[in-house]
Amino acid sequence: MEGRKCRSCPTTVMISLLGLAWLLSISPADAAIAVANPSSPLSTYIVQVRKPADQDFAATPGDLDAFYRSFLPATATSSNQEHRMVHSYRNVLSGFAAKLTTEEAEAIREKDGVLYVRPEEALSLHTTHTPDFLGLHQGVGLWKDSNFGKGVIIGVLDTGIFPDHISFSDEGVPPPPAKWKGGCDFNGKSCNNKLIGARSYTGPPDDQVGHGTHTSSTAAGAFVRRASALGNANGTAVGMVPLAHLAIYKVCEVFGCLESDILAGFDAAIEDGVDVLSLSLGGISRPFYDDVIAKGAFAATQKGIFVSCSAGNSGPSNSTLSNEAPWILTVGASSIDRTITASVQLGSRQEFDGETLYQPHDFPQKLLPLVHAGKTGDPSSASCLPGSLRGRSDLQGKVVVCDIGDAKGRLEKGQEVKDAGGSAMILANGPTEGYTTLADAHVLPAVHVSYVAGAAIKSYLRKAPAPTATILFKGTRIGTSAAPAVSFFSSRGPNIESPGILKPDIIGPGVNILASWPFPLDKSTSKTDAFNVISGTSMACPHLSGVAALLKSVHPDWSPAAIKSAIVTTAATSNMKHQPIIDQTLHPADIFATGAGHVNPSKAVDPGLIYDIGLQDYVPYFCGLNYTDSEIEMIVQKKVTCSSIKSIPDYQLNYPSISVMFGGSVTKVSVTRTVRNVGPAKSHYRSVIEQIKGLDSIDVRPRDLEFTEANQTANYRVDFTRGVDRKAAATTPFAQGAITWVSALHSVRTPVAVVF
Ligand SMILES: *[C@@H]1O[C@H](CO)[C@@H](O)[C@H](O)[C@H]1NC(C)=O
Ligand SMILES: *[C@@H]1O[C@H](CO)[C@@H](O)[C@H](O)[C@H]1NC(C)=O
Ligand SMILES: *[C@@H]1O[C@H](CO)[C@@H](O)[C@H](O)[C@H]1NC(C)=O
Ligand SMILES: *[C@@H]1O[C@H](CO)[C@@H](O)[C@H](O)[C@H]1NC(C)=O
Repeated sequence: MEGRKCRSCPTTVMISLLGLAWLLSISPADAAIAVANPSSPLSTYIVQVRKPADQDFAATPGDLDAFYRSFLPATATSSNQEHRMVHSYRNVLSGFAAKLTTEEAEAIREKDGVLYVRPEEALSLHTTHTPDFLGLHQGVGLWKDSNFGKGVIIGVLDTGIFPDHISFSDEGVPPPPAKWKGGCDFNGKSCNNKLIGARSYTGPPDDQVGHGTHTSSTAAGAFVRRASALGNANGTAVGMVPLAHLAIYKVCEVFGCLESDILAGFDAAIEDGVDVLSLSLGGISRPFYDDVIAKGAFAATQKGIFVSCSAGNSGPSNSTLSNEAPWILTVGASSIDRTITASVQLGSRQEFDGETLYQPHDFPQKLLPLVHAGKTGDPSSASCLPGSLRGRSDLQGKVVVCDIGDAKGRLEKGQEVKDAGGSAMILANGPTEGYTTLADAHVLPAVHVSYVAGAAIKSYLRKAPAPTATILFKGTRIGTSAAPAVSFFSSRGPNIESPGILKPDIIGPGVNILASWPFPLDKSTSKTDAFNVISGTSMACPHLSGVAALLKSVHPDWSPAAIKSAIVTTAATSNMKHQPIIDQTLHPADIFATGAGHVNPSKAVDPGLIYDIGLQDYVPYFCGLNYTDSEIEMIVQKKVTCSSIKSIPDYQLNYPSISVMFGGSVTKVSVTRTVRNVGPAKSHYRSVIEQIKGLDSIDVRPRDLEFTEANQTANYRVDFTRGVDRKAAATTPFAQGAITWVSALHSVRTPVAVVF
């Protein structure tokens, strides 16, 4: 069905797996070097062509191939033409991926009917306890009402899967629904009623990385009792939708995910009949017509498939998001109420809590000499980068402090300390990482501490004549009441490509998440029941994919936009202490970190009102982004003429949140929205406004919404007016608030971001 993938193509660039790359130090740049082959003049290009109007596009795959091949220049067809075609796409877009020289690519670009030609890049990969934390409990509530997601199919585009893990047992899972058309590329009997499909576009579908096994089990793993990782985070492990089906599309390797493979994964998933797609990967902000995930997700959404993606691990700086398109659910990462604690004890008897997954019982509780690894003249030694401590004899038997640096390669820093003879490692945050700490499976006794703790430890190091320290391992603790807190790494808005759409949409559990892993971490576990604790927006995304599947199973007639609306308008803005959600600085997190807030599945199932978006609504939106007709055609796969329709500014799309900008002399912005009643037929809603700093007034008309029937719609308008006194208004670069429609039974919160 798909063409063979070339493994030695020249410099292809990547989309990252949003989780692993910064646990291990894998960077897209390394990956590009790894696949570079200067002796070959060929690169893989993605080519999009206009659908022929006079031809039935549901032609056989053979016809389609022939049609696509007709675009290849003679040099590419004269010999070995089969070899040049990498993928022929059928559902995701009309086009193909082929190995071409730059001259051939130029020649194709000149041809009639060709919309888009670009060399592909590679994007990067970005418990157990989490269902409980999210309020999902056996026998009651949403899990019961949704039948644990029975019958729903979640497609996962990732690094593949380890099929024999007990999390993918199909006990109690019915056979797939009749609409399922997918297949299983594993030999033998690895697929079952849980794991109903496995396809690969890069080698066999097995997971050699762990990332895909982890994300898949987070979304839809079965109940596994007595799960733990290195003895910690123990309990019953289970995915968000334990009875849903999984369909795996392997599009990533440890170095990242090639764009042509990502499109091939979408192409197959759309054909196969999945209900939800989960992508824990992404690249940098790009125009949507030039963004493979945005294009693939648009085609999927057209078929009613809900697409959930990770926001990226490039925080905490602003405008660092992946996956900004309004038809995607963009998920940031926050902590849960569980820590896997270890404390640094100094010779001065001061103690500082931190985290680590590896908790040796035999680490001597006696104070050891304490040193900082940093050596004058070598900045890489301060953060214990690979190779930087080679040949050092002064670390032997000591507790070594390493700076976290860019937070990548944390396990490798430990390895470097271990190789240099260090007895233990203290990994100290900088101001950027603040109070976020991560429980990693370190290779030596280690503890990750906050910036404040790290600074105190270093101050002691400077002052004490003979500094000493040890690590006290304290195991798993539940009930950290400042959860959920946004982690430093979670990518932040504002949205670069479409500032009128608030992103991220939502945050979910993405810090220290226990889920299935294909490689045992110690001798007491076997391959089939191994678990690992890892962190990333990659881990947050499948939680939301699972929640979407639950909603889909309760409300099969809801569109992807309606499901997103339910998730966004019911999100929680306060933490377990009933205070505003905080970030890595312990201060309240802003709207560009949290989006609407933390997912609240039990409320999302019954939102009261829905903001829906039809596919026809996106064309005026694209015209408003000033995309050309042919750029829009690359996304919607149809001819579009912006001059003949009324375009809308992006903030006017019927999104469940509102994001407006006051540039230059603008003093008033008016936004309209349409809501649909999905609660009781007779409902009365009143608007409640959370005031916004820097605005003179927020005027909502009408103030009340009256519904008499199910599915009835109502429109409202909000006028935002900027202060006449500009100086007072300009004290903050942005401000936030909300418009909440409140009835006797429901509270529909529409978050508002204002950028000045
Ligand atoms: C985890 O293990 C500890 C020690 O065996 C036990 O006390 C605790 O109840 C377990 N926690 C869960 C959630 O099973
Ligand atoms: C689109 O172009 C119009 C006219 O030049 C301009 O006013 C508007 O700001 C542009 N919109 C965007 C999103 O760039
Ligand atoms: C509301 O609309 C949905 C989909 O359009 C439909 O399936 C459902 O039956 C409608 N409900 C009522 C009460 O009309
Ligand atoms: C984004 O960051 C820059 C630089 O730190 C800052 O000047 C700007 O105000 C920030 N913008 C928003 C919307 O947070």
